Amino acid sequence: MSEPKSHQWQPDSWQQKQVSQQATYPDAEALQAALTQLSVLPPLVTSWEINTLREHIAEAQQGKRFILQGGDCAESFSDCTPPIITNRLKVLLQMSLVLLHGLHQPVTRIGRFAGQYAKPRSSDTETIDGVSLPSFRGDLVNSPEFNLISRTPDPQRLLQGHSCSALTMNFVRALVDGGFADLHHPEYWDLGWVQHSQLADEFRRLADSIGSSLHFVEAISGRQAGSLRRADFYTSHEALHLPYEQALTRQVPRQEGWYCLSTHFPWIGMRTANLDGAHVEFFRGIRNPIGIKIGPKMDTDWLQELIRVLNPENEAGRIVLIHRMGVENIESDLPPLIEAVQAMQTPVLWMSDPMHGNTETVANGVKTRRFRKIRGELKKAVRIHRDMGTHLGGMHLELTGENVTECTGGARDLNEGDLSRAYKSSVDPRLNYEQALELAMQLVSIQAGKR
Ligand code: PEP
Ligand code: CO
Repeated sequence: MSEPKSHQWQPDSWQQKQVSQQATYPDAEALQAALTQLSVLPPLVTSWEINTLREHIAEAQQGKRFILQGGDCAESFSDCTPPIITNRLKVLLQMSLVLLHGLHQPVTRIGRFAGQYAKPRSSDTETIDGVSLPSFRGDLVNSPEFNLISRTPDPQRLLQGHSCSALTMNFVRALVDGGFADLHHPEYWDLGWVQHSQLADEFRRLADSIGSSLHFVEAISGRQAGSLRRADFYTSHEALHLPYEQALTRQVPRQEGWYCLSTHFPWIGMRTANLDGAHVEFFRGIRNPIGIKIGPKMDTDWLQELIRVLNPENEAGRIVLIHRMGVENIESDLPPLIEAVQAMQTPVLWMSDPMHGNTETVANGVKTRRFRKIRGELKKAVRIHRDMGTHLGGMHLELTGENVTECTGGARDLNEGDLSRAYKSSVDPRLNYEQALELAMQLVSIQAGKR
């Protein structure tokens, strides 16, 4: 039976649905002009890269690969600079090497970058001293300064977002192609923090053994170990701004269906996952693998229906469930969802986001996250999956390669007083370079059942 017309998917069929978390542009013609221009510009990624990533995710679903996803909560256009891009790539590569070595599995790296420019907000407007202005929705939409001009959504930003994404991608591809080899050798890593960790000896042994295996591989192959092939790095962002995503959703010669070519791996955020909403409609028609954030509000019927709508053919490599429950909720809230998915007998990848359920606000309204809780949620996630006969196949983090002080704890035991020293995020608090690398080492230790 063919689908009734109202249910046929098109890149714009989401427009028939209730759409949440969108910007209101004052000039509809200017928006249309920008979208028309966007729709003929080159895409940011290719369909064959997307298909390869789908295969990687399918392997991770079978427990044969681990997926590491990380980057800023929100990228900003002003962070589109060589040092910031290089440092973020560096920490992700180093973490992936720790995981590769410690988990004895291939690791696929997905950056939360080259397009993570749109943010969901709890309110459409922000009021300060009696003045109400549109909320800041990410650099793709408006600018954070609290004045009318900055906060008015500007369609030219869609083109700027595309350019910054392309510049980031271009630089990442060049770095990755060039080998980036020194970053693979622990002797070049910044490991000063290790001595402060309770697990100092264990971490030092891990770094030494990564170093010696790399030297061994180089000696027998005559090549630099870890020189990465171009296909080894993928991008992701929350596909929130639907007009932007639609303009980059294309048909590709000799491939079936439509690909969202703004990124390899788009995800649906917690706030836009309603079943009859526009985001779910958009996602159901694209060929990309897709992430679904699931928090304590998700129930079993809702999750089962989402999976049915988004993956009706039970394709492998299509669905990644990114759970972000919080260390206090995960034991009560995750198991029923795992059971509900098990009952469907459909392939999914379970990934832990130990960041978003553990955000707290401390003095002066500053948002932070405690390393102990982040690690705690990760550890519980590993155990719950093991007990239930599933497995944790990926980790989703907010991190930066810079030496910021946004999350407390970690080997250097940052405290609330340290937060003001280098707090740079305008949205969620990120793990810094050392904390990110430490968490990768902690995961190895957790998986080995040592801690
Ligand atoms: C995010 O990943 O930055 C985010 C907003 O997450 P969630 O939708 O899980 O709250
Ligand atoms: Co965030």
